[in-house]
Amino acid sequence: MEVKTSLLDNMIGVGDMVLLEPLSEDSFLENLRNRFDHNEIYTYIGSVVISMNPYRSLPIYTPEKVEDYRNRNFYELSPHIYALADEAYRSLRDQDKDQCILITGESGAGKTEASKLVMSYVAAVCGKGQEVNKVKEQLLQSNPVLEAFGNAKTVRNDNSSRFGKYMDIEFDFKGDPLGGVISNYLLEKSRVVKQPRGERNFHVFYQLLSGASDDTLRKLKLDRDFSKYNYLSLDSAVVNGLDDAANFRTVRNAMQIVGFMEDEVQSVLELVAAVLKLGNIEFKPESRCNGTDESRVKDKNDLKEMCELLGIEQSVLERAFSYRTVEAKLEKVSTTLNVAQAYYARDALAKNLYSRLFSWLVTRINESIKAQAKTRHKVMGVLDIYGFEIFEDNSFEQFIINYCNEKLQQIFIELTLREEQEEYVREGIEWTNIEYFNNAVICDLIENNQNGILAMLDEECLRPGTVTDETFLDKLNTICAEHQHFESRLSKNSKFLTDHSLPHNCFRIQHYAGKVLYRAEGFVDKNNDLLYRDLSQAMYKANHSLIKQLFPEGNPGKVNLKRPPTAGFQFKASVGTLMRNLQTKNPNYIRCIKPNDKKASHIFTESLVRHQVRYLGLMENVRVRRAGYAFRQAYEPCLERYKMLCKKTWPHWRGPAREGVEVLMSDLQVPTEEFSYGRSKIFIRNPRTLFFLEERRRQCLQDLATLIQKIYRGWKCRSHFLLLKKSQIVVAAWYRRYAQQKKYQKIKSATTVVQSYTRGWQARKLLRELKYQKRCEEAATTIAAYWHGTQARRELRRLKEEARRKHAVAVIWAYWQGLKVRREYRKFFRANAGKKIYEFTIQRIMQKYFLGLKRDLPSMSPIDKSWPSRPYLFLDGVHTELRRIFHLWRCKKYRSTFTEEKKAVYEEKLEASEIFKDKKALYPSSVSQPFKGDYLEIRKNPKYQKLNSAVEEKVLLADVVNKINRANGKGTARIFLLTKNSVVLADQKTGQVKASVPLPDLTSVSVSTQSDGFFALKLKEGSASAVKGDFLLSSEHLIEIITKLHHIGSTAADREQLNVDISDEFLVQFKQDKVCVKFIQGVAKNGNSVSCKRKNNRLLEVSVPATA
Ligand SMILES: Nc1ncnc2c1ncn2[C@@H]1O[C@H](COP(=O)(O)OP(=O)(O)OP(=O)(O)O)[C@@H](O)[C@H]1O
Ligand SMILES: [Mg+2]
Repeated sequence: MEVKTSLLDNMIGVGDMVLLEPLSEDSFLENLRNRFDHNEIYTYIGSVVISMNPYRSLPIYTPEKVEDYRNRNFYELSPHIYALADEAYRSLRDQDKDQCILITGESGAGKTEASKLVMSYVAAVCGKGQEVNKVKEQLLQSNPVLEAFGNAKTVRNDNSSRFGKYMDIEFDFKGDPLGGVISNYLLEKSRVVKQPRGERNFHVFYQLLSGASDDTLRKLKLDRDFSKYNYLSLDSAVVNGLDDAANFRTVRNAMQIVGFMEDEVQSVLELVAAVLKLGNIEFKPESRCNGTDESRVKDKNDLKEMCELLGIEQSVLERAFSYRTVEAKLEKVSTTLNVAQAYYARDALAKNLYSRLFSWLVTRINESIKAQAKTRHKVMGVLDIYGFEIFEDNSFEQFIINYCNEKLQQIFIELTLREEQEEYVREGIEWTNIEYFNNAVICDLIENNQNGILAMLDEECLRPGTVTDETFLDKLNTICAEHQHFESRLSKNSKFLTDHSLPHNCFRIQHYAGKVLYRAEGFVDKNNDLLYRDLSQAMYKANHSLIKQLFPEGNPGKVNLKRPPTAGFQFKASVGTLMRNLQTKNPNYIRCIKPNDKKASHIFTESLVRHQVRYLGLMENVRVRRAGYAFRQAYEPCLERYKMLCKKTWPHWRGPAREGVEVLMSDLQVPTEEFSYGRSKIFIRNPRTLFFLEERRRQCLQDLATLIQKIYRGWKCRSHFLLLKKSQIVVAAWYRRYAQQKKYQKIKSATTVVQSYTRGWQARKLLRELKYQKRCEEAATTIAAYWHGTQARRELRRLKEEARRKHAVAVIWAYWQGLKVRREYRKFFRANAGKKIYEFTIQRIMQKYFLGLKRDLPSMSPIDKSWPSRPYLFLDGVHTELRRIFHLWRCKKYRSTFTEEKKAVYEEKLEASEIFKDKKALYPSSVSQPFKGDYLEIRKNPKYQKLNSAVEEKVLLADVVNKINRANGKGTARIFLLTKNSVVLADQKTGQVKASVPLPDLTSVSVSTQSDGFFALKLKEGSASAVKGDFLLSSEHLIEIITKLHHIGSTAADREQLNVDISDEFLVQFKQDKVCVKFIQGVAKNGNSVSCKRKNNRLLEVSVPATA
């Protein structure tokens, strides 16, 4: 929340003199002193700021202070020049009102410092940006330049402004500075040629000589030694705390910032040097033939150097110092100048040169700082003008200055009253006429066009004939004698005839701020401000651009015979312009007061301050301000400040602020004549009332503070108490918990002990009971056993007796019981529980069976006959099937390992089995025999070489067989060869082929069912081979021979399959006749197992021993 403050807070004395009670000069001074002693150098009179020069730097101009006062109400904070600057700047920016800040006060009171403070404050709070900053810098830097040329050390002030300055700072609609215009008033040019004791010439001369480089000085033909120059007073050339050399650098830098060209700076310095040189020109009298004295330049060196500097022809200037030409209409009269006149001319030239240079500087600065934009500007004017001056010896300058102050006072009264009146009208307050002293009458005495002092002075100056200061005074004495503010010894007003404080050559004016005695001497001269035309023409002829500009009237082409306007006239005109300018603006006043004459801090010289208070008209100021209402305040801040004084408005007033204030005032019973209600403000007539309110507020604040303290203390104690209470509860809770825990643990252990004892006792009791019960049961069991034994035996006997009869009944009963039980218990099972259990059981059994089978599988040999035994009867079929599948599978596995040859062998074996299995008894014995084929190794054996060559084809079988002779049934050994196409029989010994039968000629083969090796090869009837008849042969490898023959037959495409007849009787076609071969079972004799005998012509009987 923003804290609302007021000027009334922490006041030292009163911050606003309007509130001074009682109002008297003494109380006024006492208040000023009180505040000054407490470093409060600013005090208000309403909106006017009184500024006491502290003569030391105070820490009240910091950037923080700028921020403090920025955008704050004028009466919100303690009095400060920043408050005024802020108020002016804000009214300018926000309300579009042009402002002027009028700073007055006597020399050394702090006007220039105040104006700089105002400017720096405005620069700090206004807008920023590259362009704006440049403008600000130029405006601020114009000060050092003007101060160097226009300020000088005086007995009153080490940096006294010797000119009046009014600066208009121009702003755009946003409040950003655009530029400015400076007006200067009446430079004290007499200082150039002569300075009072203890004072100095303008700073620039000393700065140039101290700060310029040797080179610059050489160019300017100057010497660093001040004593070489007549125009520089020596007694206070060096001023304490003033560094001329450093200031020279500052000034040069400032000139550069402001925008002076290097050649312009050079020209300016040349002119300054020329003035110094001019002062050194001295004259001597030279008698002329007509008896008059004529002046001559004494030592021409300085003149020469000066002429060189300014580019002036030496002779021209020299002549101008000796002669004076007066032109009247068509006549030109030349008169010589005596030495005094020559000096006068020299000084007049120096003064003019310097003052015109100063005016040129102002113009040149204006050119630089003037606003570029052509739009309408808002303007803030700052007037730093010499204050009212009362010296012992007051001359034309003081007269002019005091006239200016008189005018300012007038405008001040006018504007203050006007402002006051406007506010009353604005606020709807009735306007009561205010009694005040109007100094218009004094202004009239001075400036009246007919009989004003200035008009009369001008008249005197222009009048032909002898004109002196005395004639001027006489004139005044005659014309102004009746004026109530004019006093003169010689006036017809008898009042002053005996007034010895008023010398004869003086006149006195009663200014608004006091009486001032003016010495008439010099008035006419100073007003004339004459420069001989010869001099201005000499200057115009100079070969120096700046000099030429400064003396335009020296142009011979534009000779103006009219007298130039007098100094008084010019000043009056410029003051008139200034006043008109100020009247259009909203004024803000800063009244500077100097506390002592010693330029010392902490000293408050009452008489001096009293004097200033008087001539500044400050009491007047307060009276005007208090004439109506001493104090006014807007309703909101007023209510805010005093609302605690009334219960209805404290702490909050919900209605409009004005009504709140009305309630407040009536509640406080403030007499109604003491205040008035304006539209937005309350107007309080007497400060007394305000202080009554303030006092009540102070008391109330004390009470409130006590109340706040009380509440705070109560709150603090209560908070502390609550904290303690809370802590106590926590501690107690923890303690109780701890105690309860302990107690509980104790009870728990005690309970456990009791429990254990009880349980032990109970257990023992139970044990005893159980033991007793058990003994009883055992006894009962024994008895029952005996009894049952008896019963059983009895029953057995009875059953045995009734066994037969009751067996059937018992069976029926059992079935019946079973049925009943199943019926009864069926409902306890779920409908499919049996099925599930069955399936589960089956599944488990199957699982177990398969896992067992897997574990006990027999070897992979196809001839392995082993197979695990069947575990369950119901798996009989599966078990057999699995055995079969397993066997097929391992056979397949086994087969897959066969090579082609082996496969062929097994195919043959298979074929043999197909032909002979279960048909011929010999077959089983052949199974284990390998079918070797070539038993004789016919190709390798050399014995059969001949035979080998006879048989071209590959021999499939070679063996020795017996060829059965039909005649006796005996066998002859023959080699039996079987090839793909034929059967060859050859002699065993010789290897000679006995018979070769092509296989197509073979129709069938006959064998017996017995275990013999007989076989008959039957030939196709009618074939070539059939001529010799069929062959009856016997071989150990019968099965192999027949199988191979059958195989060849079955694989040959062009042949029919060979028939194999298996029977114990078959016919063999020998050459001519057919013989029946019959096989009988016989007994083995002499190891010869098979015997063949011829029984008759038609029968051969083969006896084959029975196989075991
Ligand atoms: N506010 C201030 N704080 C500190 N010193 C100040 C202040 N005002 C003035 N001074 C001191 O007083 C001196 C004189 O002030 P300043 O030059 O402003 O006087 P002035 O009124 O302009 O005089 P003059 O009429 O001769 O020009 C300054 O040089 C400075 O030392
Ligand atoms: Mg000044």
